[in-house]
Amino acid sequence: MKNQILFGLSKATGEKHIYLETPEREGHGDYSTNIAMIIAKKEDLKPIKYAREVVAKLLKDNDLAKIVSKIEAVEPGFINFFLSEKVLLSNLKAITSEKDRYGSSQEGKGETVVVDYSSPNIAKRFGIGHLRSTIIGQSLCNLYGFLGYKVVGDNHLGDWGTQFGTLLYQITSKNLNAQELSIDDLEELYVKFNKEADENPELWDEARKWFRKLEEDESEARKIWETIVKTSKSEFGRIYKILGVSFDHEHGESFYEDKMQEAIDEIRKKKLSKKSREAEIVEFEGIPPAILLKSDGATTYFTRDLATIKYRLGEWSPGKIIYEVGSEQKLHFRQVFATAKLLGWIKGEELVHIAHGLIRFKDGKMSTRKGQGIKLEEVLEESIKRGRKVINKSDTSRGLPKKEIEKVANAVGIGAIKYFDLSHHYSSDIIFDWEKLFVLEGNSAPYLQYTIARTNSILQKAKKDLVENNKEKQKLNNEELLLVRTLARFPEVIIDATKNYSPNLICNYLFDLAQKYNNFYNQHRIIEGENEGLRLELTESTGCVLKNGLTLLGIESPEKM
Ligand code: ARG
Repeated sequence: MKNQILFGLSKATGEKHIYLETPEREGHGDYSTNIAMIIAKKEDLKPIKYAREVVAKLLKDNDLAKIVSKIEAVEPGFINFFLSEKVLLSNLKAITSEKDRYGSSQEGKGETVVVDYSSPNIAKRFGIGHLRSTIIGQSLCNLYGFLGYKVVGDNHLGDWGTQFGTLLYQITSKNLNAQELSIDDLEELYVKFNKEADENPELWDEARKWFRKLEEDESEARKIWETIVKTSKSEFGRIYKILGVSFDHEHGESFYEDKMQEAIDEIRKKKLSKKSREAEIVEFEGIPPAILLKSDGATTYFTRDLATIKYRLGEWSPGKIIYEVGSEQKLHFRQVFATAKLLGWIKGEELVHIAHGLIRFKDGKMSTRKGQGIKLEEVLEESIKRGRKVINKSDTSRGLPKKEIEKVANAVGIGAIKYFDLSHHYSSDIIFDWEKLFVLEGNSAPYLQYTIARTNSILQKAKKDLVENNKEKQKLNNEELLLVRTLARFPEVIIDATKNYSPNLICNYLFDLAQKYNNFYNQHRIIEGENEGLRLELTESTGCVLKNGLTLLGIESPEKM
């Protein structure tokens, strides 16, 4: 529909780049454009007069006439389009027949997108920052997949680097058994090392020695490292299981160990690096230099990210690589992307850093203890507990078997966390607030899940006579019309959210849709009311679209709540 309107407009105005907006205000139509004002300004015409001329031309367009009921020019020169009821209603049919595919498309067919997300560091607890990356990254994977792109999700684990030298030194010098060390112990050892090395800087030489051993594949070093990786991965695996997240690949930084030299050679051959004191650096215009090799010859996070790009380009030929990583790494990615370009690796591919903001805790309760990260599993468990409370309070959940209740508690608790994160723009800092996560009359996952459960229960009750009652439709009332209009927008919202890496646009939309549905529900009788067939169709369509939306956000929708 949008495309048809754009086509009509460009025929009428001769303009190629026209932007259609979805007006916020009721009564301004389904789409609106200011193109007449833009052209009028360029040509020195009176905007409203020119807008009227364009409308007159558009009204003669037979294709447009099939889909719109009204086109109007309004002061100071906007053009508004109203889709016809027939078109809007035929869209309902599309929803109920396409079901969980409604809103999907093939527009990304043949193109690959790599999403680098989650990527926690081995031997450190899974932090809340990595939670954001995991949730947003997963949602971006879902969105691109839904639009027909081939998606490669890669967990770029931080499992290599000089910090492992410090751990190896700690473990061997203190005669510890690596097998017995938990992730907390490992993190503590690391913190301790830094303190000890403050007083005794020679320890750094020891750490470097141990990292070199690791790089040279010395067997003791290798064995301890493998144990640490295993312990950490199993801890992360537990969290991913609770979150319902999985990856196509988990090529950690160590995967690039044997691929870095090639990148280094190429940089040298193209004369992009230079010696600076003992180290080797790459310089840029306008941003600080990056370290390619440290003074002791060790590679860096930067070196590994370069090798990673080369590998990904060669292996998957993506049109786009998305890095979902905290905003504190902005400079790092600017350096990496700039170097890849200087090397001539980038031929139209897009490299994007989706730099998420921080999470802070409102009540200070879960705040960091002495600079240590928040224990994520505790937060997740607390959320599931709160999810359980929500269900135990609800009438409809009575009689559900215990196992079912647990499943719903999980969906609600984890859903609430994910949704809270996703409903903010990724770049904003967010303040974690339990109340907002579970607000039942607000922009939260539980509110949407409730609304879906409501649509399910209505359809359940009505099931028997759905077909018989599907009689001639009467003219739509205001609430019905608003709902049909909103439902029709879903496919465009998905595209917008994907192109802007902004799942929060989906949240805004779903919240709006749920409010419109509940408003309609409160004002009109559905079962055995007038227009019953249509109202049931609206109910089914709303449930379906809300569910599709939540699925794209990685959130489950329980049948009953
Ligand atoms: N492990 C890194 C960190 O926690 C994030 C890695 C992000 N991905 C990348 N390709 N650099 O800071």
